[in-house]
Amino acid sequence: MNDNIATVAYIGATILFILSLGGLSNPETSRRGNMYGMAGMTIAVLATVFNPSHVTGGGIAAIIVALLIGGSIGIYASRKVQMTQMPELVALMHSLVGLAACIVGFASYIDTTPLAASGTSAADLAAIEAVHEVEIYLGILIGAVTFSGSVIAFGKLSGKIGGKPLLLPGRHMLNLAALILVVIFGILFTGHHAATFVLLLMTLIALAFGVHLVMAIGGADMPVVVSMLNSYSGWAAAATGFMLNNDLMIVTGALVGSSGAILSYIMCRAMNRNFLSVIAGGFGGGATASAGAAAVPAGEVTSISATETAELLREAKEVIIVPGYGMAVAQAQHTVYEITKLLRERGVNVRFGIHPVAGRMPGHMNVLLAEAKVPYDIVLEMDEINDDFPKTDVAMVIGANDIVNPAAQDDPTSPIAGMPVLEVWKAKTSIVMKRSMASGYAGVDNPLFYKENNRMLFGDAKKMLDEVLAALRT
Ligand code: TAP
Repeated sequence: MNDNIATVAYIGATILFILSLGGLSNPETSRRGNMYGMAGMTIAVLATVFNPSHVTGGGIAAIIVALLIGGSIGIYASRKVQMTQMPELVALMHSLVGLAACIVGFASYIDTTPLAASGTSAADLAAIEAVHEVEIYLGILIGAVTFSGSVIAFGKLSGKIGGKPLLLPGRHMLNLAALILVVIFGILFTGHHAATFVLLLMTLIALAFGVHLVMAIGGADMPVVVSMLNSYSGWAAAATGFMLNNDLMIVTGALVGSSGAILSYIMCRAMNRNFLSVIAGGFGGGATASAGAAAVPAGEVTSISATETAELLREAKEVIIVPGYGMAVAQAQHTVYEITKLLRERGVNVRFGIHPVAGRMPGHMNVLLAEAKVPYDIVLEMDEINDDFPKTDVAMVIGANDIVNPAAQDDPTSPIAGMPVLEVWKAKTSIVMKRSMASGYAGVDNPLFYKENNRMLFGDAKKMLDEVLAALRT
C-alpha cells in the first residue's frame, strides 16, 4: 500500500466516522451508525499498519501481536461488563487514550528522525521544530490530565474511591498556580532550557492536576465528568495526530473532542448544572453530602398491589411509562414491552417518557427499550412529553426516582433544585414501582411518594411487572 492509497483510505474512514456520529444520534439508526464506525476503524487500522512508510518488516508482526492481545482483552471486557458498569468501563478506556498520548509524546520527543527533508532552509527547519515541540508539549499535557483524571473517575464510579468531593483549601489557587507553571514550563521547553527535566516536571503537574480536578467533583456530577473526559480523550488523540503527522487521527480526535464537549453541555443542561462550575470542580457534592439528612422518608405513602395496578391500566386510555435505573437493574424491559403490547392491542395509548440522565449513562433507557423491541415512535424525550401528563390517566414510574422528584421544582434548598424532571404527579394517578423507600442516585427523599394521587408498588420491578402482566392477561 502506498501513501496515496492510504490517503484515500483515510478519507473513506473519516466519512464513515462522520456517518457513524450521525447514525448514533437516533435510536433507529444507531445500529447502522455503529457499523459505520466499526468499518471506518477497520479501514483506518489496516491503512496505517500496512503502509510501508509507517511500519516495516518486524514492526508489522509486533503490531499484529499487539492488536490480537488488545482485541482479546477488549472482547473479554465488553462481554463481561454489566450494563450498569458501562460508565466505569468508558472512564477506563479514556485513561488508555490519555496514556497513549503521553507515551507517543515522549516517543516523539526522543525520536531523532529529521523532521524535514535535507535542503530545507534553517529558518523553515526552526519553525517546523518549534511547531513539533508545541505539539509534543500539548499532547503530553492533555494526555496526562486525561489519564489521571480518568483513572480517578473509574475509581469513583466503581466505588473504589469515595464519591465525596475532596475540597482542598485554596483549591482554585492551586489550579491557577498549576496553570501558570505549565505555561512557564511550556516557554522554557520550546526555548530548549533543561527541556527533558521541564517536560517531566510538567507531566507530573498535569497528572496531579487531573487527580485534583476529578477528586474535587461530587458524585452527582460524575456523568458530566465522564463525558468531559471523553472530550479530553478526543483532544489528546488529536494532539497525537499532530505529533505523528496523521490527518485521520487529527480529524477523529476533533470529532470525539467536540462531540464529547457537546454531550457534556447537554447533560449539564439536563441536570441544571453550570458547565464551567462542574469543570472547575467541587460542585455537585451537595447532593451526596446532604444525602443522609434529606433522604429520611417524610410522610405516609399509599401502597397498591400488582392486581390493582393492572386494573388501573386496563381502565386507562392514556398511559405514560417512565423508566429509570431500577428497570435496568431488574432487567424488566422485556416485561415492560409485553405489557405495552397488550395494552396497545386493547386500544390504550401507551408512550414512554425518557429523561436525558435516566439510568447511569446517556441513552441507557433507549438502549434497553430498543433491545426489548419497544417501537421507537412511542419513546419520547422529556421535552416532547412533559406537557401531556395532565391528560394522562396513569403515569407508571419503573425504578426511577431522581428524575421524577418534584422537589427539583418546589424546593430551592434541594440538592437537585432546578434539575428538569418528568412531571408524573400531574397525571390522574401515578404509580411508583421500587423495592423500598430508599433514595436514588442523588440521595434525596422524593415528595412524589407522599402525594395523594400517587401509589407505591413495592418490589423488584421485574417480579412486580410479571405479576401485573399475569393479572392483565386474566
Ligand atoms: P435513581 O434516582 O438512581 O433511582 C433508581 C431507583 O431504582 C432507586 O430509588 C431504587 O429504589 C430503584 N431500584 C433499584 N433496583 C430496583 C429493582 N430491582 N426494582 C425496582 N426498583 C429498583 O435513578 P433515575 O431516576 O434513573 O435517575 C438517574 C440518576 O442517576 C440521576 O440522579 C442522574 O443524575 C444520575 N446519573 C445519571 C447518569 C446518566 S448519564 N444517565 C450517570 C450517572 C448518574 P429501591 O432501592 O427502593 O428499589
